[in-house]
Amino acid sequence: MNSDSDLNLLKESARKAASLVGRYDFVRVLTHYDADGISAGAIVASALLRANKGFQLTFLKGLNESFEYERDELLIFLDMGSGYPDVISSVEADVIVLDHHLPTGKINAKKEFVHVNPHLYGFDGTYELSASGVAYFFANELGNNRDLSSIALVGIIGDKQKLLGPNEEILKSGIEWGVIEEKPGVCLHSGKLRDVLSRSIEPYLDLYKKDDELESFLKKAKLDGEKEFDDLSIDEMHRLANAVTLRLLKMGAYEGVIEQIIGRRFILKNLPIVNAHMLTDIVNSCGRAGAMGVAFGILAGDKSFVEKAVRINYEYTTEILEELAKRKREVKEGFCIRYLVMNDAPSASSMATTFSRYLMSDKPIVVINVKNGKAKVSARTTEKLSRRVNLAEVMKIAAEKVGGRGGGHRVAAGANISPDKIDEFLKEVDRLCCAMLA
Ligand code: C5P
Repeated sequence: MNSDSDLNLLKESARKAASLVGRYDFVRVLTHYDADGISAGAIVASALLRANKGFQLTFLKGLNESFEYERDELLIFLDMGSGYPDVISSVEADVIVLDHHLPTGKINAKKEFVHVNPHLYGFDGTYELSASGVAYFFANELGNNRDLSSIALVGIIGDKQKLLGPNEEILKSGIEWGVIEEKPGVCLHSGKLRDVLSRSIEPYLDLYKKDDELESFLKKAKLDGEKEFDDLSIDEMHRLANAVTLRLLKMGAYEGVIEQIIGRRFILKNLPIVNAHMLTDIVNSCGRAGAMGVAFGILAGDKSFVEKAVRINYEYTTEILEELAKRKREVKEGFCIRYLVMNDAPSASSMATTFSRYLMSDKPIVVINVKNGKAKVSARTTEKLSRRVNLAEVMKIAAEKVGGRGGGHRVAAGANISPDKIDEFLKEVDRLCCAMLA
C-alpha cells in the first residue's frame, strides 16, 4: 500500500523540476506522439506559457529518434527517458524527465538532472499515474494549474490506466475545480447510436459492416439506433451498458475491460470536445496519423481544430476497422504468444491493443508493422497475464539481442528492430514469454 507521503515525495521532486525551470527563460520540450504524450505536452506547454517561459515543443516516436538542442538549454523529456538511461546520460545540458515508464538502469547525468517517475515513489506507473499525470503535478508546482486536470484525464484514459492512487487525486481535483464531471453510463463516442456502435474500436464491439447483427443488438436492447448517444435516458443508458457487457463477454474480451468502460464516463467541461472518451480517441488517432499539432490545438482549447481532428479520427478508425477484419485471419500461433507481421499497415499499436483486449486475450500478442525499411513492434497483454509476464523486459531483451531497442510497460511495450531480424526476434520473444509464464 502506498501512503500519502509517497505522493508528497513525488510532488517534492516535481517542485525541484519546477525550480530548475525557474532558472531559464526558454525550455525545450520533447514528448511522445501518443495520447498520453500529447496530453503531457499540452499540460507542460500551458503551464510554461502561464509562467511566462518561452518553449519549443517537439513530438517524437521515441528516443530512437534523434533530437537537437543547445548545451545552454533546459530539456524536458515527457513520457520517455526513464527506459533509455544511456540516451539521457549522453545529453550535455540540464535535463528534466517526467515519465512513467519502468526505469531501467542508472542515469549518469552530465549536468543538472531531475527525474520524476511514479515507479521511483512506490506507485505503479502502468496504472496509477501516466506521463500526463506527472506533467500535471509538475504544472501545479509552477503555478495553480488545476484546470489542466481535464487534459491529464485524456492521457490517463489513453494509456488505459485506472482511477487509483495519484490518478484518483487528479480526478478529484478536476471535479472540485469544476472542469471534470462524472456521469453514469458507458464509455462510447457521442453521435448517432447506430454509427457509434458500429464504428467503435475502444471498446471494439465487432459490429462494423455487420448490419444484421447491429440491428438485432439494438432490437434486443430496445434502443433506437437513430438516437444520439448523448440524449439517452438513464434507462436507455442502463440497457446499453448491459447489452455492451453481454456482447463483450460473448466475444471473449478480457473481463478487465468491462470495469474500465462500463459504470462511469467523464465530461471535460473546459475542452472543445467534452466527451472524454471520444476526445482521447481523437487525440490518439491524430498522433498516429502524424497530426500531433491538431490534437495539441484542441487540448490547448482551440475549437478551430475540431473539424479537422474529427475527420482524421474518422479516416483512422475506418482504416483500423478494415484492417482488423482483414488481419484477424492472419494472426499466427507461437508456443506462448500470438503474432502478426504486416507490411505498410496504418498502425501496429492499435491492432495489438484491440486483439489483446477484445479478441484474443489468453496469450500475449506481438504485432509487427514493416514500413519504410523499418520494423515497428507493438506487444500487448492483459493485466492478469502481466502479473507473470513483463513485456517491457521481453521487448528490451529480445530487441537488444537482434540489435534493436525496446521497452515500455509490463502490459504494453514496443520495440524497433531491423526487418531482416523479425524471425529471430519473434523466437526470442516466444522463448522469454514461455519462461516467464512457466
Ligand atoms: O508503440 P506502442 O504504442 O506499441 O508502444 C508501447 C509502449 O512501449 C509505449 O509506452 C512506448 O513508449 C514503449 N516503447 C519503448 N521503446 C520502443 C518502442 C515502444 O519503450 N522502442
